[in-house]
Amino acid sequence: MRWLVTGAGGMLGRDLTRLLRAVPGAHVHAFTRTELDVCDAAAVAETVRAVLPDVVVNCAAWTDVDGAEQDEARAMAINGTAVAGLALASTRVGARLLQLSTDYVFDGAARTPYGEDAPTRPLNVYGRAKLVGERAALGDGHYVVRTEWLFGAHGRSFARTMATLAAEGRAVRVVDDQVGQPTWTVDLAERLILLGTGQAPPGVYHATNAGRTSWYGYARQIYELAGADPGLVEPVSTAAFPRPALRPAYSVLGHDAGRPLPPMRDWRAALSAAWPHLLSGWGGVVSQTVGVGRQ
Ligand SMILES: NC(=O)c1ccc[n+]([C@@H]2O[C@H](COP(=O)([O-])OP(=O)(O)OC[C@H]3O[C@@H](n4cnc5c(N)ncnc54)[C@H](OP(=O)(O)O)[C@@H]3O)[C@@H](O)[C@H]2O)c1
Repeated sequence: MRWLVTGAGGMLGRDLTRLLRAVPGAHVHAFTRTELDVCDAAAVAETVRAVLPDVVVNCAAWTDVDGAEQDEARAMAINGTAVAGLALASTRVGARLLQLSTDYVFDGAARTPYGEDAPTRPLNVYGRAKLVGERAALGDGHYVVRTEWLFGAHGRSFARTMATLAAEGRAVRVVDDQVGQPTWTVDLAERLILLGTGQAPPGVYHATNAGRTSWYGYARQIYELAGADPGLVEPVSTAAFPRPALRPAYSVLGHDAGRPLPPMRDWRAALSAAWPHLLSGWGGVVSQTVGVGRQ
């Protein structure tokens, strides 16, 4: 089976590529941004024609949620318009496209989990652009896989930033009024492999670890794993921590479409399993007040 992965240098792309390379019979063609710019429709079409993949996984995205507020055109080009080119190129060779998307397509006003078919209403530019990408993929009969609050061994993430702060024994203020589902890139990658190889029909799938917490609860869990005092984590409200992009307050996704697949484990179990890998490479960065910059 032939796989084509875009955005292969990113947090998810790196783990997915590594896992795919261990799958017997999988031929993996992984492209970082410098190797394949998904906004270059001609290059996308040519690469897809040359590789002739069975499955294309688009892990490429501009994930700077606050930055996207300042540059809607760029966000739309990478997260929205480019998906149309990938979808068309995939359709032409009979490949299945798995397009990654986000909880940020929802407004967070719900108080029960968002189903795959719940009405979308993004609050920010990033979410609007990802929704354009979703529609391009679905319009061509492909797959949309929504996830959220990713952590992994590579790149910058809330989890790695918190782990760094915890290791330094630093106090931190973290928002407590946004609820979501921390999700390990490895568990998500396994879900993508199942969707790429299995019989699940095209459409929208939610792929997050189970359970839910606030950013504050998530940070406390990381401090505990690090052996640091969770009391160093102080809860603050979103209002006390203004950011350029609005975030949904409630980002819990339902998983009805994925029911035939094995359920994904609880986020705490995933975080514990990921822990040695999170620590294997530190993501620089930090300020004493930490919110949620990227998706
Ligand atoms: N991280 C999260 O919490 C989260 C939450 C919900 C959904 N998602 C979605 O999950 C997917 C994977 O996210 P991630 O966390 O792995 O993001 P990431 O670490 O930021 O990786 C994205 C990758 O895409 C690359 N890229 C940017 N522009 C590109 C272009 N024009 N052509 C090709 N590649 C390009 C980036 O390269 P450079 O770094 O060189 O720019 C980067 O390697 C994305 O679709 C994202 O929207 C992520």
